[in-house]
Amino acid sequence: MTSALPSDPSDKPYFARHIFFCLNERKNGEECCAQHHAQEGFDHCKQRIRDAKLSGPGQVRVNKAGCLDRCSGGPVAVVYPEGVWYTYVDANDIDDIVNEHLIGGKVVQRLVLPPHVGR
Ligand code: FES
Repeated sequence: MTSALPSDPSDKPYFARHIFFCLNERKNGEECCAQHHAQEGFDHCKQRIRDAKLSGPGQVRVNKAGCLDRCSGGPVAVVYPEGVWYTYVDANDIDDIVNEHLIGGKVVQRLVLPPHVGR
């Protein structure tokens, strides 16, 4: 059986970094990222990456996601390939994630979601 996964470690990923924002909304009143301005965070990130001309293959992709199952820490976003989970409050936090991690490659420690935070 052959694998579709890259076998050569030098294979470059299609995107250098990928950030997923949970935009899930629950209408039954249960905790969800949409209650905490997740859409604004996503929109701001997307615009910042566009303004910096960093979107596209080999660069950064900003994606919407449904529930990422870490709702009690919401709003949440996760950056790959590092697999770093963030929580954020406002545009300043998003700016730090963009500048320090998505562009600079450094984890923004003050925004890292604690490991025990789940649904
Ligand atoms: S609603 Fe956002 S992680 Fe579940």
